[in-house]
Amino acid sequence: MARIGVIGAGYVGLTTAACFAHLGHRVVCADVDEGKVAALRRAEVGAHEPGLAELVSTGVRTGDLVFTADNDAALAGAEFVFLCLPTPTGERGEADLSAIDAVLGRADLRDGVLVVKSTVPIGTADRIARSQRVPVVSNPEFLREGCAVDDFLRPQRVVVGSDDESAARGVLGLYPDAPALVTDRASAELVKYASNCFLAMKLSYVNSLAELCERAGADIDDVTEGMRLDERIGAAFLRPGPGWGGSCFPKDTRALLCTSADAHVDFPLLRATIDTNERQAHRVVDKVREAAGPLAGARIGLLGLTFKAGTDDLRDSPALAVAGLLAGEGAVLTGYDPCVGADTGPVRVAGSALDAARDADALVVLTEWPEFAELDWPAVAAGMSRPVIVDTRNLLPADKVTESGIRLVGTGRAVT
Ligand code: UDX
Repeated sequence: MARIGVIGAGYVGLTTAACFAHLGHRVVCADVDEGKVAALRRAEVGAHEPGLAELVSTGVRTGDLVFTADNDAALAGAEFVFLCLPTPTGERGEADLSAIDAVLGRADLRDGVLVVKSTVPIGTADRIARSQRVPVVSNPEFLREGCAVDDFLRPQRVVVGSDDESAARGVLGLYPDAPALVTDRASAELVKYASNCFLAMKLSYVNSLAELCERAGADIDDVTEGMRLDERIGAAFLRPGPGWGGSCFPKDTRALLCTSADAHVDFPLLRATIDTNERQAHRVVDKVREAAGPLAGARIGLLGLTFKAGTDDLRDSPALAVAGLLAGEGAVLTGYDPCVGADTGPVRVAGSALDAARDADALVVLTEWPEFAELDWPAVAAGMSRPVIVDTRNLLPADKVTESGIRLVGTGRAVT
């Protein structure tokens, strides 16, 4: 079993640290936020990530997982140091590497292997390798929020890139058995961007198809069902929605576009992927306007605020993009989300879905929380001032909703 240092206790770093401790390694995890470190020492995990709190609590109790605000303590004696620092969007859309540079500028690594897990542009790990005495391995993460622990413990793939084969194999050996790719650092870095951008492209494609279905009289759910039967296309990531968001896709698509521009590569597909997504919130607002009438002063209920179900994350949430546009036109917004307790931007947060629907001129389903499909539809209808629902995710049971006298405006299909 290995001694592992993890720098950064965000959702990637914390999941990495807790899961490695669970797999039997001895882990020291450092974060600059002393308040967060103190809370983690008490095994208090802020984020809503199934299974994570339990792993942190066990690790802290057994002593296999130690938290510190001192990076040097995580580096000392570590055989592997994982960099799990944020790489937010910079001014031109590029990945901002200042957190990584700041930590490495002060670190004095004499032995062990330095592993770059943060999502970083092609060439970053090579650049880091030139400034370090220890082997450097690129090992991107593929953790989905809401199932990060499961993704870590049962990975679909592990990708490691290095010019030091034994360091790369060493990193690979830390993980559970999984299909593996051992490659160079630049290729490993690009696998991450290539995957996320491809998925985003798939979604923008489906969202445009849904628009076409509405105009041409076809049904997006049947169309994607037919597409899914082709193994070359694959069954996942074909659900239309209010646009893709979250902490990765918006950032990674912009960063890859920037990397391409820097490399003098024209990448119109990627540009169109982003543009299509930026239009998506406007499309939703157009549909709400059609359903509810003029938006100035209209009372609109919102079901779901997080960027997807299963998380409390509001970062780059398409639901909030829609809310911002609706508020900009003067709509009065009441929202409900099982994971959001406080008012958010222009949205007053209600205690239940029924409360969000009360007196509304229209209700908009923005996040696919399963409980929204099981509401008491006659009660929803009775509470609304005008019973019409715009379902951006095609989540609701159309027959039950319409039987209750509610007009349902779905996505990529005829209005019922
Ligand atoms: C993503 C990647 O999946 C993960 O591998 C990565 O490393 C981090 O980024 P995450 O951001 O947690 O994970 O969300 P994901 O589940 O991939 O969803 C991304 C967006 O696509 C969400 O806004 C979601 O609502 C949307 N989506 C997804 C759809 O609109 N339709 C779908 O069929 C699937």
